[in-house]
Amino acid sequence: MKDDIAATVSTLRSRYGIGEPRIGIILGSGLGGIVEQMEGGHRVPFSAIPGLPLPTVQGHQGELVWGRSEGAELLALSGRIHFYEGCSMAQITLPVRVMAGLGVEILILTNAAGAVNSEFSPGEIVAISDHINFMGDNPLRGAADFVDLTQVYSRRLRDLAAKAAGDLGIGLKSGVYIAFGGPCYETPAEIRAAASLGGDLVGMSTVPEAIVARSLGVEVLGLSLVTNMAAGITGRPLSHREVIETSARSADRFQTLVKAVVKSLAKQERES
Ligand code: HPA
Repeated sequence: MKDDIAATVSTLRSRYGIGEPRIGIILGSGLGGIVEQMEGGHRVPFSAIPGLPLPTVQGHQGELVWGRSEGAELLALSGRIHFYEGCSMAQITLPVRVMAGLGVEILILTNAAGAVNSEFSPGEIVAISDHINFMGDNPLRGAADFVDLTQVYSRRLRDLAAKAAGDLGIGLKSGVYIAFGGPCYETPAEIRAAASLGGDLVGMSTVPEAIVARSLGVEVLGLSLVTNMAAGITGRPLSHREVIETSARSADRFQTLVKAVVKSLAKQERES
């Protein structure tokens, strides 16, 4: 695995001229717009990365883009691959390994999520404070890798995001993300269980990537956009279309915050 990643990394560096990005970002459903605004983007299609399946879900494109944003070199993954597409944990977390291999030390994980916490509303942005892995699998299985997860989501990065949000007048809540395997949405009973276990948000991604990132020593920031109230909270049925539409409506505000976070990280880097 390590040798495969090293080979992929050196191929991508020579073929696509990828530099030394320290900041990576994985873009969730409908949140890929930042890629269009990156300067000098070099685009690597997923098909150029050996072992990476192609995404199948509407709203995802499937490319790794290297460029500059807000004064920082940024490596963005647009069109993440999900566990529910039938891929293994190793496959869905391969991009994190490749990004770390290319030099990424800070990874911003973004996603669309359902609100389990009834005090959250669609359109709100939440910094993930911790997670509960309910996916029934673990990306480190087979590696006997006893990684410490006492602080998966960096306190430093959450504070930085809170400051950036405050400066912009954008609300930023904090909450625990609980990941289910999908692809179906959860039942109301599962959501009640999630709430009683301490979950505030529910989704089908992010957790495997965060675990692999931590195993590689990468600092993680998780940002969720609430796209819907989770099953059973309003009594209305859930739809993928509602998720995509809410993320489209809130994407600009979300991107404004993400760019401010990147800018502040770039500033810190220059000053350090
Ligand atoms: N459940 C799981 N994943 C999601 C949801 C949800 O309600 N909304 C967006 N992604």
